[in-house]
Amino acid sequence: MLETIEDTNSLEELEGIRVKLFGKKGSLAGEFAKLKDIPPKEKKAFAEGLNKKKASLQKAFDTQYEILKAREIEKMLKSEAIDVSLYSSLSKKGALHPVMETMDKIIDYFVAMNFAVESGPMVEDDFHNFEALNLPKYHPARDMQDTFYFKDGGLLRTHTSPVQIRTMLETKPPIRMIAPGTVFRRDYDLTHTPMFHQVEGLVVDSKDKVSFANLKSILEDFLKYMFGDVEVRFRPSFFPFTEPSAEVDISCIFCKGDGCRVCSHTGWLEVLGCGIVDQNVFKAVGYDDVSGYAFGLGVERFAMLMHKIPDLRSLFEGDIRLLEQFR
Ligand code: PHE
Repeated sequence: MLETIEDTNSLEELEGIRVKLFGKKGSLAGEFAKLKDIPPKEKKAFAEGLNKKKASLQKAFDTQYEILKAREIEKMLKSEAIDVSLYSSLSKKGALHPVMETMDKIIDYFVAMNFAVESGPMVEDDFHNFEALNLPKYHPARDMQDTFYFKDGGLLRTHTSPVQIRTMLETKPPIRMIAPGTVFRRDYDLTHTPMFHQVEGLVVDSKDKVSFANLKSILEDFLKYMFGDVEVRFRPSFFPFTEPSAEVDISCIFCKGDGCRVCSHTGWLEVLGCGIVDQNVFKAVGYDDVSGYAFGLGVERFAMLMHKIPDLRSLFEGDIRLLEQFR
């Protein structure tokens, strides 16, 4: 019987033997049952022998149980081990949100052109968002931007231009910076969301070093880097903080200028605003005898054009099916 216990190879097998040996109808129980037929004189010796046998079998059983249990655990650990270095084709790779990807591409260009990357708070005050940008209180141009106000007079910045002001107040010219960031306006339709992103640009230097020609050439080069072989045109426009100001168009990337729905049959797509910094802005930050150019663009607008996204709002619904297309 001892060998049988030691020969078992699994806990199951061992359990079978346990029932046969120690069970109610097992062989030991059978032997103990014989006790009643043994003559009284021999009873004690017989019982002692039986108990000894039972104890040694029990011991062998326990030892074997430990051995088999350990083996089983080891087997389980081996089979359940995860090889973290193993590549799985099932794993889903994430991706940058198309707006962030576009933002990165824009930033890459200007960093390569030696622009520093600056930032500022999203909760702004009237001075940085409007006043210092040549937008005094009650100036009609304030209506160009539908602002979210807080009860204490603070506001959510409506553009990244306040970062121009903050950077100029903190440093001395020359300045060569961009400010990518989140901005907010009370707008909601196919091409507007209350939260969106802009990249601002500002260059300030002595008057002989900054010209509209500089601004034109860098923006032309930038737009060709973003959209490929497009025509670029500058149209006179108005911003309170630049004079002269321009809006910049590229030839429509969908119809190549022939006219289509996206470009409202004009052949042109408006992509950014820019100009020569108004001297009133320099006055507000205490700069004297300098010149500068600035530009601002909407990142979502770029992403929409580059990826042919029809409804801007879909970018912010967090639908994984939309995002998966940009993996
Ligand atoms: N801040 C302007 C806007 O949000 C864009 C702009 C920036 C225009 C800098 C000119 C110069 O519309």
